[in-house]
Amino acid sequence: MFPAPAVPRPRKRSRPAEACVPRREEVKFKDVRVYLVERKMGRSRRSFLTQLATSKGFIVEDVLSDKVTHVVSEDSQAASLWKWLKDCAQTNLPNVHVLDVSWFTDSMREGRPVAVETRHLIQDTVPTSPEGSTPTHSATVSPYACQRRTTIENKNNILTDAFEVLAESYEFNEMEGPCLAFRRAASVLKSLPQAVRCLGETQDLPCLGEHTKAVMEEVLQCGHSFEVEKILSDERYQTLKLFTSVFGVGPKTADKWYRRGLRSFSDILADRDIHFNQMQQNGFLHYGDISRAVSKAEARSLSNIIDGTARAITPAAILALTGGFRRGKEFGHDVDFIVTTPELGMEESLLCKIIAELKKKGILLYCDYQASTFDMAKLPSLRFEAMDHFAKCFLILRLDASGVEGGLHSAEGDSRGWRAVRVDLVSPPMDRYAFALLGWTGSRQFERDLRRFARGKQRMLLDNHALYDKTKNEFLAATTERDIFAHLGLEYIEPWQRNA
Ligand code: CTP
Ligand code: MN
Ligand code: MN
Repeated sequence: MFPAPAVPRPRKRSRPAEACVPRREEVKFKDVRVYLVERKMGRSRRSFLTQLATSKGFIVEDVLSDKVTHVVSEDSQAASLWKWLKDCAQTNLPNVHVLDVSWFTDSMREGRPVAVETRHLIQDTVPTSPEGSTPTHSATVSPYACQRRTTIENKNNILTDAFEVLAESYEFNEMEGPCLAFRRAASVLKSLPQAVRCLGETQDLPCLGEHTKAVMEEVLQCGHSFEVEKILSDERYQTLKLFTSVFGVGPKTADKWYRRGLRSFSDILADRDIHFNQMQQNGFLHYGDISRAVSKAEARSLSNIIDGTARAITPAAILALTGGFRRGKEFGHDVDFIVTTPELGMEESLLCKIIAELKKKGILLYCDYQASTFDMAKLPSLRFEAMDHFAKCFLILRLDASGVEGGLHSAEGDSRGWRAVRVDLVSPPMDRYAFALLGWTGSRQFERDLRRFARGKQRMLLDNHALYDKTKNEFLAATTERDIFAHLGLEYIEPWQRNA
C-alpha cells in the first residue's frame, strides 16, 4: 500500500528541490516516489537510473523527504545504510520501503512498480537507542490544545509565523477548513519544548497534514517558504491585512473595499460613497495609538484605574485581568477585564456606572456598550456563538503616562504624555464567573479545543456561560476554573500555559 497525499498540493508552488529534476516524461505512477541513495551507487549510475525510471513513467525524487515512498540502495550493509538514513532523515522512515536495487531492476523490467517482497527489503538492524535515533517530540503530544501546556515561549516561531500567514490567507478567502488546519498545526508546534530541526522529528505529532509538512520542509531546508513569500507579496493579502488592522473593520468589509479598487487608507477616506460606522470612525481616528501594542505596565495602570473606579461605586466590586495579559503576555492588542459584584443581578448596572464614571473623568474616548442578553433558560446553546450574552463594552480609553511605570509604550518622538488604548470589559453574573473567566482568558485556540474536547470526548457542551452534561442532562456547577477542568476530566492547565 502506498501512502497517497490526502490534500492536493497547490500546483504552482515552486519547489527548489524538484526543480533540479527535469520531468519531461509523462508520470504514470503518481503514488510511487522513488529515492535513489547515491552512496555506493555513485553519481553517474544514479543519474542513469533516474533517467531510465523517469522514461518509464516513475517519479524519482532528488531529495529524501516524507513524500518518498521507496528508498532504493545498492548498499548491502544494512546497518550503515540505516544509520545514514536516520542521520539525514527529514522523513517518515517507518512509512517508506527501504529496498535493495533488485526491486528497482525488477520494476524496470516489468515497466511498473512491482509489489514489494521480503527479498527486496533491507531490514533495519540498528536498535533504536535514545542517543542513536533522531529525537521525536513523540506520542505524548495531544491533538487537543487543552491537554497541552503552552507558554509564551515559542521555540518554533519561524514555522508558526509561516503557518499563521497561510491561515490568515485562507481566512481572507473564506476557506475555513485549511485555515483551521494551519492554526491547529501552529498551536501544536507552539507547545513543543524545543525547536523542530527536521521533518523526521515531527512524525508522531498530531494535526500536521501533507500541506503543513510541505511548508515545514521548505522552511527547514531554505529558511523560508515560497508559498508564504508569494502570499506576503500578494496585493489582495496586503490590502486586506492593512484594512482589517482598523478597529471595526472585519474581513468582509475589507474585501468590499478592496473590490471597489481601494488600496490604501487615503483611498478609503477619499471615497465619498463609503459610510463608516462609529467603531470604524474611531478606529481611523485613533489608528496610530491602537495599532500599537499595549505593554504590561500600561495594562497594570489601566487595572488600577478600573479597580479604583469600580470600588468607588461598590467596595464589593471584583475585577480580574483576563485575555493575553492573564496568560503572561508582555504585549497585547487590548486589555481585557471581567468586572462584577457578588450581588447577583447588580453586575450590569455596575458596568454602566463604571462607564459613566470613566466618561466623567474625561478618559472615555469611545464606548460600544452591549447590554446583557443572558438567559439561563435558553441554555445550553447547541451551537457555539461567537459572542457570549453577558453585558460588555468595547472601549477606547485615554491613558496618561503618569500612572504607567517606566512610561508609555508610545512611538518615538510622541510627546503628548498620553495614548489611546483598547479595553474590553465583561460583566457576568457572579454564579457564571468561572465560565466567563475561563472563556475570556483564551487563547482562542485553547478555547476552541476545550469546546471540541468537551463535545467530542465527554458529550458535554461548554461555552462562556455554562457546562452541560448531555449524558446526565444537567448543568455542572463550578465556582473556579479548576472545577471546570475537573468536570471535563482534564488536568488543570494554568493560565500561563494556555498560549496555544
Ligand atoms: N472573547 C470572547 N468573546 C468576545 C471577545 C473575546 O469570548 N466577544 C475571548 C476570546 O476567545 C479570547 C479572549 O476573550 O479568548 C481575549 O480576546 P482578545 O482580546 O481578542 O485576545 P487576546 O488573547 O487577549 O490577545 P491580545 O493580547 O492580542 O488582545
Ligand atoms: Mn486581549
Ligand atoms: Mn479583547
